[in-house]
Amino acid sequence: MKKLIVGNWKLYINTPQEGKKLIRDIDKKLPRGLKVEVALCPQVSLAPLLKSSYGGKRIAFGTQDVFFEEGGAHTGQTSPKALVSSGIKYVIIGHAERRREGDTDDVVAKKATTAIKAKLHPVICVGEPTRDTEGAYLTYLTNNVVSSLARINAVDASKFTIAYDPLWAIGATEAPSPRIVAEAVMFIRKTIADMWGRERALKVRIIYGGSVNAESAVLFAATPGIQGLLPGRASVNAEEFTNIVRAFQK
Ligand code: PGA
Repeated sequence: MKKLIVGNWKLYINTPQEGKKLIRDIDKKLPRGLKVEVALCPQVSLAPLLKSSYGGKRIAFGTQDVFFEEGGAHTGQTSPKALVSSGIKYVIIGHAERRREGDTDDVVAKKATTAIKAKLHPVICVGEPTRDTEGAYLTYLTNNVVSSLARINAVDASKFTIAYDPLWAIGATEAPSPRIVAEAVMFIRKTIADMWGRERALKVRIIYGGSVNAESAVLFAATPGIQGLLPGRASVNAEEFTNIVRAFQK
Protein backbone atom coordinates (compact mmCIF):
# COMPACT_ATOMS: atom_id res chain seq x y z
CA MET A 1 0.00 0.00 0.00
CA LYS A 2 1.32 3.44 -0.95
CA LYS A 3 1.66 6.16 1.66
CA LEU A 4 -0.82 9.00 1.15
CA ILE A 5 -0.28 12.72 1.57
CA VAL A 6 -3.57 14.53 1.27
CA GLY A 7 -3.80 18.31 1.45
CA ASN A 8 -6.99 19.73 2.95
CA TRP A 9 -7.29 23.19 1.44
CA LYS A 10 -10.35 24.01 3.61
CA LEU A 11 -11.51 27.49 2.54
CA TYR A 12 -7.97 28.79 2.20
CA ILE A 13 -8.16 28.78 -1.60
CA ASN A 14 -11.20 30.57 -2.91
CA THR A 15 -10.67 31.29 -6.60
CA PRO A 16 -9.67 29.18 -9.63
CA GLN A 17 -6.73 31.52 -10.22
CA GLU A 18 -5.25 30.96 -6.77
CA GLY A 19 -5.90 27.21 -7.05
CA LYS A 20 -4.27 26.89 -10.47
CA LYS A 21 -1.19 28.79 -9.35
CA LEU A 22 -0.78 26.68 -6.23
CA ILE A 23 -1.18 23.44 -8.22
CA ARG A 24 1.42 24.63 -10.75
CA ASP A 25 3.84 25.47 -7.96
CA ILE A 26 3.27 22.16 -6.18
CA ASP A 27 3.60 20.14 -9.38
CA LYS A 28 6.91 21.85 -10.18
CA LYS A 29 8.35 21.16 -6.74
CA LEU A 30 7.19 17.55 -6.36
CA PRO A 31 10.13 15.13 -6.25
CA ARG A 32 10.93 13.06 -9.33
CA GLY A 33 10.08 9.39 -9.13
CA LEU A 34 7.18 9.98 -6.79
CA LYS A 35 6.68 6.96 -4.52
CA VAL A 36 3.76 8.26 -2.48
CA GLU A 37 0.21 9.10 -3.49
CA VAL A 38 -0.38 12.86 -3.47
CA ALA A 39 -3.90 14.28 -3.35
CA LEU A 40 -5.21 17.82 -3.04
CA CYS A 41 -8.67 18.60 -1.72
CA PRO A 42 -10.01 22.01 -2.75
CA GLN A 43 -13.55 23.03 -1.78
CA VAL A 44 -16.20 21.26 -3.86
CA SER A 45 -17.00 24.23 -6.09
CA LEU A 46 -13.37 24.36 -7.29
CA ALA A 47 -12.24 20.73 -7.25
CA PRO A 48 -13.69 19.52 -10.60
CA LEU A 49 -12.55 22.65 -12.41
CA LEU A 50 -9.03 22.46 -10.99
CA LYS A 51 -8.85 18.75 -11.76
CA SER A 52 -9.83 19.32 -15.39
CA SER A 53 -7.40 22.18 -15.87
CA TYR A 54 -4.49 20.18 -14.41
CA GLY A 55 -2.55 18.62 -17.23
CA GLY A 56 -0.30 16.41 -15.11
CA LYS A 57 -0.64 12.93 -13.69
CA ARG A 58 1.18 13.13 -10.38
CA ILE A 59 -1.50 14.85 -8.33
CA ALA A 60 -4.84 13.21 -7.60
CA PHE A 61 -7.83 15.32 -6.62
CA GLY A 62 -10.28 15.08 -3.81
CA THR A 63 -12.72 17.29 -2.02
CA GLN A 64 -13.88 17.93 1.53
CA ASP A 65 -17.33 16.33 1.86
CA VAL A 66 -20.02 14.44 -0.04
CA PHE A 67 -23.69 13.59 0.57
CA PHE A 68 -24.92 10.14 1.66
CA GLU A 69 -27.65 9.74 -0.93
CA GLU A 70 -26.95 8.95 -4.55
CA GLY A 71 -29.47 11.49 -5.83
CA GLY A 72 -33.03 12.79 -5.40
CA ALA A 73 -34.65 15.75 -3.66
CA HIS A 74 -31.68 17.05 -1.66
CA THR A 75 -31.12 20.74 -2.25
CA GLY A 76 -27.62 22.03 -1.73
CA GLN A 77 -25.83 18.68 -1.52
CA THR A 78 -23.14 17.04 -3.66
CA SER A 79 -23.60 13.50 -4.96
CA PRO A 80 -20.72 11.02 -5.16
CA LYS A 81 -21.49 10.42 -8.84
CA ALA A 82 -21.04 14.12 -9.65
CA LEU A 83 -17.57 13.96 -8.11
CA VAL A 84 -16.50 10.68 -9.71
CA SER A 85 -17.66 11.80 -13.15
CA SER A 86 -15.52 14.94 -12.76
CA GLY A 87 -12.40 12.88 -12.11
CA ILE A 88 -12.40 13.32 -8.34
CA LYS A 89 -10.86 10.36 -6.55
CA TYR A 90 -10.76 11.19 -2.84
CA VAL A 91 -13.22 12.68 -0.40
CA ILE A 92 -12.57 13.73 3.16
CA ILE A 93 -15.47 12.60 5.36
CA GLY A 94 -16.21 13.44 8.97
CA HIS A 95 -13.57 16.11 9.41
CA ALA A 96 -13.86 17.75 12.84
CA GLU A 97 -14.96 20.95 11.12
CA ARG A 98 -17.88 19.05 9.51
CA ARG A 99 -18.69 17.11 12.68
CA ARG A 100 -18.85 20.47 14.48
CA GLU A 101 -21.62 21.43 12.05
CA GLY A 102 -23.67 18.34 12.73
CA ASP A 103 -22.12 15.28 11.07
CA THR A 104 -22.67 12.46 13.56
CA ASP A 105 -20.84 9.13 13.40
CA ASP A 106 -23.89 7.67 11.68
CA VAL A 107 -23.90 10.40 9.02
CA VAL A 108 -20.18 9.79 8.53
CA ALA A 109 -20.79 6.04 8.21
CA LYS A 110 -23.51 6.64 5.60
CA LYS A 111 -21.39 9.09 3.63
CA ALA A 112 -18.46 6.68 3.65
CA THR A 113 -20.47 3.72 2.31
CA THR A 114 -22.18 5.76 -0.40
CA ALA A 115 -18.78 7.13 -1.43
CA ILE A 116 -17.17 3.69 -1.58
CA LYS A 117 -20.09 2.35 -3.60
CA ALA A 118 -19.57 5.18 -6.11
CA LYS A 119 -15.84 4.35 -6.27
CA LEU A 120 -14.60 7.38 -4.41
CA HIS A 121 -11.88 6.74 -1.83
CA PRO A 122 -13.03 8.27 1.49
CA VAL A 123 -10.53 9.64 3.98
CA ILE A 124 -12.55 9.13 7.14
CA CYS A 125 -11.51 11.42 9.99
CA VAL A 126 -11.68 10.21 13.56
CA GLY A 127 -10.18 11.53 16.77
CA GLU A 128 -11.03 12.58 20.28
CA PRO A 129 -11.86 16.22 21.12
CA THR A 130 -9.60 16.31 24.18
CA ARG A 131 -7.08 14.17 26.06
CA ASP A 132 -7.33 13.18 29.71
CA THR A 133 -5.08 11.21 32.03
CA GLU A 134 -7.66 8.56 32.95
CA GLY A 135 -7.94 7.22 29.39
CA ALA A 136 -11.54 8.30 28.75
CA TYR A 137 -10.34 9.50 25.36
CA LEU A 138 -9.64 5.89 24.40
CA THR A 139 -13.26 4.95 25.02
CA TYR A 140 -14.29 7.93 22.91
CA LEU A 141 -11.90 6.89 20.14
CA THR A 142 -13.14 3.29 20.14
CA ASN A 143 -16.77 4.37 19.78
CA ASN A 144 -15.81 6.96 17.19
CA VAL A 145 -14.00 4.37 15.03
CA VAL A 146 -16.58 1.58 15.49
CA SER A 147 -19.56 3.78 14.68
CA SER A 148 -17.91 5.67 11.81
CA LEU A 149 -17.08 2.35 10.12
CA ALA A 150 -20.29 0.60 11.18
CA ARG A 151 -21.85 0.52 7.72
CA ILE A 152 -18.70 -0.38 5.80
CA ASN A 153 -18.24 -3.94 4.64
CA ALA A 154 -15.01 -5.52 5.89
CA VAL A 155 -14.13 -6.66 2.35
CA ASP A 156 -13.75 -2.98 1.45
CA ALA A 157 -10.91 -2.47 3.96
CA SER A 158 -8.49 -1.27 1.27
CA LYS A 159 -10.99 1.13 -0.32
CA PHE A 160 -10.78 3.86 2.30
CA THR A 161 -8.25 5.57 4.55
CA ILE A 162 -8.61 6.55 8.19
CA ALA A 163 -7.17 9.86 9.29
CA TYR A 164 -6.44 10.13 12.99
CA ASP A 165 -7.22 13.82 13.23
CA PRO A 166 -7.87 14.74 16.89
CA LEU A 167 -9.62 18.03 17.41
CA TRP A 168 -7.08 19.20 19.99
CA ALA A 169 -4.25 18.95 17.46
CA ILE A 170 -5.95 20.78 14.58
CA GLY A 171 -4.84 24.39 14.13
CA ALA A 172 -2.45 24.13 17.09
CA THR A 173 0.99 25.71 17.30
CA GLU A 174 2.73 22.38 16.83
CA ALA A 175 1.96 18.74 16.16
CA PRO A 176 2.04 16.22 19.02
CA SER A 177 5.02 13.89 19.30
CA PRO A 178 5.14 10.96 16.84
CA ARG A 179 4.99 8.60 19.83
CA ILE A 180 1.59 9.95 20.90
CA VAL A 181 0.30 9.68 17.34
CA ALA A 182 1.77 6.21 16.77
CA GLU A 183 0.08 4.92 19.93
CA ALA A 184 -3.30 6.25 18.79
CA VAL A 185 -2.80 4.79 15.31
CA MET A 186 -1.98 1.41 16.85
CA PHE A 187 -5.05 1.68 19.05
CA ILE A 188 -7.24 2.44 16.01
CA ARG A 189 -5.82 -0.55 14.13
CA LYS A 190 -6.46 -2.78 17.13
CA THR A 191 -10.05 -1.49 17.27
CA ILE A 192 -10.54 -2.38 13.59
CA ALA A 193 -8.92 -5.79 14.16
CA ASP A 194 -11.44 -6.45 16.94
CA MET A 195 -14.23 -5.67 14.44
CA TRP A 196 -12.92 -7.29 11.27
CA GLY A 197 -9.95 -9.47 12.19
CA ARG A 198 -6.26 -8.71 11.98
CA GLU A 199 -5.76 -9.47 8.30
CA ARG A 200 -8.46 -7.05 7.20
CA ALA A 201 -7.32 -4.42 9.70
CA LEU A 202 -3.85 -4.46 8.15
CA LYS A 203 -5.38 -3.48 4.80
CA VAL A 204 -6.69 -0.17 6.17
CA ARG A 205 -4.34 2.74 5.58
CA ILE A 206 -4.11 5.00 8.64
CA ILE A 207 -2.71 8.52 8.33
CA TYR A 208 -2.38 11.44 10.72
CA GLY A 209 -3.60 15.06 10.59
CA GLY A 210 -3.21 18.01 12.97
CA SER A 211 -0.65 20.84 12.70
CA VAL A 212 1.68 18.90 10.45
CA ASN A 213 4.52 20.80 8.77
CA ALA A 214 7.64 19.87 6.82
CA GLU A 215 9.68 19.54 10.01
CA SER A 216 7.28 17.26 11.90
CA ALA A 217 6.65 15.25 8.71
CA VAL A 218 10.25 14.00 8.88
CA LEU A 219 9.56 12.59 12.36
CA PHE A 220 6.19 11.10 11.39
CA ALA A 221 7.71 9.48 8.30
CA ALA A 222 10.30 7.77 10.50
CA THR A 223 7.63 6.39 12.85
CA PRO A 224 6.31 2.90 12.01
CA GLY A 225 2.56 2.66 11.54
CA ILE A 226 1.92 6.19 10.27
CA GLN A 227 1.07 5.70 6.59
CA GLY A 228 0.70 9.28 5.47
CA LEU A 229 -0.46 12.73 6.53
CA LEU A 230 -3.37 15.12 6.17
CA PRO A 231 -1.94 18.64 6.38
CA GLY A 232 -4.29 21.64 6.45
CA ARG A 233 -2.45 24.98 6.64
CA ALA A 234 0.78 23.47 5.33
CA SER A 235 -0.98 22.18 2.22
CA VAL A 236 -1.50 25.64 0.77
CA ASN A 237 2.22 26.43 0.87
CA ALA A 238 3.90 24.73 -2.11
CA GLU A 239 7.34 24.55 -0.49
CA GLU A 240 6.04 23.20 2.82
CA PHE A 241 3.64 20.72 1.20
CA THR A 242 6.17 19.26 -1.21
CA ASN A 243 8.70 18.92 1.61
CA ILE A 244 6.08 16.90 3.51
CA VAL A 245 5.78 14.65 0.46
CA ARG A 246 9.58 14.45 0.22
CA ALA A 247 9.80 13.30 3.85
CA PHE A 248 7.67 10.26 2.98
CA GLN A 249 9.66 9.37 -0.16
CA LYS A 250 12.27 7.47 1.86
P1 PGA B 1 -3.90 21.94 10.26
O1 PGA B 1 -5.25 21.22 9.86
O2 PGA B 1 -2.79 21.17 9.56
O3 PGA B 1 -4.03 23.32 9.73
O4 PGA B 1 -3.78 21.85 11.75
C1 PGA B 1 -5.29 19.82 9.93
C2 PGA B 1 -6.68 19.30 9.83
O5 PGA B 1 -7.65 20.06 9.92
O6 PGA B 1 -6.81 18.09 9.67
